[in-house]
Amino acid sequence: MKKPFLTFVLLCAALVVVAEPILTIQADKIVKPASPMLYGLMTEEINHSYDGGLYAELIQNRTFLDDSQTPKCWSLVKNNGAAETMALDTGETFNGKVSLRLDVTSASKDSPASVANEGYWGIPVFPSTRYHASFYARFGPGGSSSSSSSSSSPDSGPITLSIVSDDGATVYASAHVSHLSSDWKLYEVTLKTGRGITPTAKTRFLVTVENPGTVWLGYVSLFPPTWKNQPNGFRKDLLQMLIDMNPKFLRLPGGNYLEGNTIADRFDWKKTIGPVMDRPGHDGPWGYRSTDGLGFLEYLRWCEDMNAEPVLAVYAGYSLNHTHVNPGPDLEPYVQDALDEIEYVTGSTTTKWGAERAKDGHPKPFPLHYVEIGNEDWFDGSGSYDGRFTQFYKAIKAKYPQIQCISTIGNDADANLRVRSSNPDVLDEHYYRSARVFLRDANHFDEYDRNGPRIFVGEWAAHESTFPPWDRRSADLPPTPNMKAALADAAWMTGMERNSDLIQMQSYAPLMVNVNPGARQWRPDLIGYDTLHCYGSPSYYAIKMFANNLGDQIPAVLSNDSTIYDSVTEDSKTGAIIIKVVNSQTNAQTLKLDIRGARLKSDGAAVTLAAAPDATNSIDNPTNVVPVVSKVTDVASPFGYTLPANSIVVLTLKSK
Ligand code: AHR
Repeated sequence: MKKPFLTFVLLCAALVVVAEPILTIQADKIVKPASPMLYGLMTEEINHSYDGGLYAELIQNRTFLDDSQTPKCWSLVKNNGAAETMALDTGETFNGKVSLRLDVTSASKDSPASVANEGYWGIPVFPSTRYHASFYARFGPGGSSSSSSSSSSPDSGPITLSIVSDDGATVYASAHVSHLSSDWKLYEVTLKTGRGITPTAKTRFLVTVENPGTVWLGYVSLFPPTWKNQPNGFRKDLLQMLIDMNPKFLRLPGGNYLEGNTIADRFDWKKTIGPVMDRPGHDGPWGYRSTDGLGFLEYLRWCEDMNAEPVLAVYAGYSLNHTHVNPGPDLEPYVQDALDEIEYVTGSTTTKWGAERAKDGHPKPFPLHYVEIGNEDWFDGSGSYDGRFTQFYKAIKAKYPQIQCISTIGNDADANLRVRSSNPDVLDEHYYRSARVFLRDANHFDEYDRNGPRIFVGEWAAHESTFPPWDRRSADLPPTPNMKAALADAAWMTGMERNSDLIQMQSYAPLMVNVNPGARQWRPDLIGYDTLHCYGSPSYYAIKMFANNLGDQIPAVLSNDSTIYDSVTEDSKTGAIIIKVVNSQTNAQTLKLDIRGARLKSDGAAVTLAAAPDATNSIDNPTNVVPVVSKVTDVASPFGYTLPANSIVVLTLKSK
C-alpha cells in the first residue's frame, strides 16, 4: 500500500472513531408549529382498566348481572350453627333486573349467616381509611327453622357490613344498619379502618345477617376515598399518574371496546348514563363484562379532572365479528345516536341531551373539537366504511361544522379501503411495532404529504419481544415494557414531535393494566397496578418527560446525527429551547450542540431516563427506572453534552 493512501485510510479511521455527533439548531428560524394537542391518552376497558382499575368501586358483580346462572364473585361463608342458601332471583328485584336472594333458615347473633364478595382481587385495606358502602335490600320472613327467638317476627335484625381477612380472623372495618325494611330501600354506611394496619388485599367483604328470614340484595357497593372525594369516582393513585402525564386529550371509549364483538355489545352510550344501579352493563370484547359504572359522563368528568378534552369515538356501524350496518336508512339511528352523544357533551341545558347531562349532575358543557368515526374500520372487508363515514361526516358537519372528523383508515391501510366520498379532516393510524422497527422507522412521518389530512396516531407502542402483542407468548412476559421498548418509544416520539405540524395528536395504547393473575389481555401496557399499588413503566416516564416539556414551535435543525434521535421545540413565551435526544447505543455519546441564533443563558436543566435495556419497573420494584432531574451548567454554543448509554434526555436551555 502506498504511504499517502495509508495515511488517508488511517485519518478516515481516526475521524470515524472520534467524530462526535452534532446537532445544529438555527434557533431564530422557526419552520413550523408544534401541535399543542400532541400528547394525550387513549383508553378503553381492557386489562380491567376501569372495573378493577381506575373506577374505584371495590365490589365485583355488585348488581349480580355478571353471570345469569350464578352469583359470580359471591360465596356463602360457612359459620357453625347458621344455615343459609343463596341464589339469583329475577322475580324479586328493585330495578327489574336481578337480585341475590339469601334464605337464612338458621342464624343468631353468635352464629350469623354471611355472604362474601371477593372484590377485584381482594378489597384494598389501608389504615385510617373511610369506605362508603351502599346497598339496596329488602327483608321478608321465610326461614322455616330457627335458632333465634325473633323468627316469629319479620325482623331482619341488624345487618353488618365488614371488610375481613380472607380467613375471617381479622375484621378490619365494620358498620351495621339496625334492620331492613320489607320494602326495597337504599342503605348507606361508613366503614373505618383503624390506625397501624399494614395495607393488605388478602381480604373480602361480608354482608352478615343475624336473624332467619329472606334477604334480597339488589346492589351492593363499596368505595374507598376517591379522587377529590367525587361520588362514583376514580382511584386516586391511578388518576394522579394520568394527570402527571399532562395529557391534552383522552381518546374514548376505544378501541375494540367501542365496537363490541357484536352490534348489540357496542358501547351504547345512552345505556351508560344515569343512576349507576340502573345501568345494565354490557359484555366487553376483552372477555369480561363491563359494569358501565365508569360510563359516558364519568369519561367526560375524567377528562375534566385531567384538564384534557375528549376525542370522542362514536360507534359507526361496524363490530368485531365483521358485521356492519349498511349506509343509508339502516345507519340513520346510529348517526342520530352520535349526534345525540355530541349534544350530551357540548349542548347547553336548553337542548334535550344537554338537559339530560345537567340532570346527571353536570350542567356545564364539555369542550369537543374532534370526533372519530368508528375504530380500525380497515377490518371491515365489505368496503362499507366509505359510505358509513360519509353519512356520519355529513350529519356531524351539518350540525357542528367546527368539529374535526377523524377517519379510522389512514395512509398505512390499503388505499382501496380509504374514504373517498368525503374529506376526513384527520386520519387515525395505529402502530404496534417491535422496538427494532420503531428505531429503524423513527423518521416515518418526515416525508408525509403536507397537503393531505392531518394525522392522529391514536394507538402505538413498541414491544421489546420478537412477536406482537396479540401473540399468545405475550402472556408469559411482564405486563409492562422494559427500557429497550422505552428507548424505541422515545425515538418514535421524536419523529412524531418533529412532524407535529402534521401529527396533531398521538396516544400510546393500551394505557393501563391490572397485573393480577387473569386480569390482562394485552401487553405491553403503560401503567401497571394491583389492588393496592401502581407503577409506571419506563415508557410511562418517557412519555411524561416528553409531554411535560413541549414548546409551541419547531426551529430549523441544520444537521443531526443518525446515531441519535432528536426533536427540538421552542417555547415562544419563555424563549426556552427544548431538546429531546435518545441515545439507544450501549455506550455514552457526547453530543455537540451547536445552537445558532440564540443568546443562551449559562444554566439549563436536564431530565434523564437511563437504564440497561432489560431494566424495568414492576409492582415489587416500582421505581427501578425513573427520570433524574439535574442542572446543566456552562451552556454556550457550541457545547458538548454527554448522553449516557441507553438514555432518553430532555434538555431545557434558556435564552437571554
Ligand atoms: O389497544 C388494543 C387494541 O388494539 C385496540 O382495542 C384496538 O383498536 C387495536 O387493535
